[in-house]
Amino acid sequence: MSTNSPIRVAITGAAGQIGYSLLFRIASGAMFGPNQPVILHLVEVPQAENALKGVAMELEDCAFPLVQGIVPAFSPEEGFKGVNWALLVGSVPRKQGMERKELLGINGKIFVGQGKALEKNAASDIRVLVVGNPCNTNCWIAKENAPGIPSNRWFAMTKLDENRAKSQLAIKAGVHVSEVTNLAIWGNHSATQYPDFANAKIQGKPVTSVITDQAWLEGDFIKTVQQRGAEIIKARGLSSAASAANAVVDTVRSLTTPTASGDCTSVAVCSDGSYGIEKGIMTSFPIRTDGKNWEIIQGVPVSAFSRAKIDATVAELVEERDTVKLALA
Ligand code: NAD
Ligand code: LMR
Repeated sequence: MSTNSPIRVAITGAAGQIGYSLLFRIASGAMFGPNQPVILHLVEVPQAENALKGVAMELEDCAFPLVQGIVPAFSPEEGFKGVNWALLVGSVPRKQGMERKELLGINGKIFVGQGKALEKNAASDIRVLVVGNPCNTNCWIAKENAPGIPSNRWFAMTKLDENRAKSQLAIKAGVHVSEVTNLAIWGNHSATQYPDFANAKIQGKPVTSVITDQAWLEGDFIKTVQQRGAEIIKARGLSSAASAANAVVDTVRSLTTPTASGDCTSVAVCSDGSYGIEKGIMTSFPIRTDGKNWEIIQGVPVSAFSRAKIDATVAELVEERDTVKLALA
């Protein structure tokens, strides 16, 4: 058994679809490594009590060596006590034909209470990853309701978009997905996001020198990544879950282990004004980290095409933020 002291990880929506894929990956060590024990705080609404009981029974039945405790909780105050990481998944998914921002009216208020509860109850080193949609703006809401938690501890998930973009480029180029690097998602986890093919690499070479079909890169490639979530809902009748849980694991790992030299990772963070993006907006950027501190990579070339795409997705985030400010005032 590992001698490291356990970290406490809260997962909201633990009895939901993503929860069912995610908990077992965390428990197995995929997120924090094979030597890091965890205490899992499973946070749900009271209506999901029975389902959560079943999930907790299954976790016990796996006899995971790294799990040192399971804490079921039915309020954020109780669920966030002493937690070092909070993975905010619990919320309503969209249905076919909806945009993610249409969920703001239903889901936005969840993140008011959760922000407040995190500030009061979480450990002093708390880091928060918001997955529930629309994740960028929900993260902004939680952050605004927890002014005592430093702004560099808040993240919203765009790793699934990065993974999707890498897979599409790999398929088109006929290479393995691991050979696609430096793929940053800019902006919102929405249909306006910009997967930055212009700075991405395949086998260390610029994507544009390997895939010379510029019309595909500027057209179908971007659209496929932007619409992938909607396509999955159309095909499955439910939104992505296993790939989303996998991206949660990838996000936390990419923030807690050093970024490979010269590469980047994608996650939405609180803008510091880099690249002219309004301060305070939760925007996805090219990020690198030494495993402890992260930074927005500076000096990434931004063409006129990229600028227009980034401006459009940031404008949508500003609009979402303004809508929420009015609604929650
Ligand atoms: P789901 O309906 O299967 O599960 C959601 C769970 O959250 C349910 O068990 C529900 O009881 C619980 N819940 C609701 N309100 C809660 C609250 N206030 N506190 C705690 N738990 C609460 O949904 P899902 O498929 O797991 O998706 C969850 C969210 O993740 C959705 O908003 C979805 O759109 C989003 N999502 C985001 C990404 C991304 O890339 N950012 C990817 C996939 C899904
Ligand atoms: C996704 O990208 O798959 C999720 O955000 C779910 C959705 O609503 O598209």
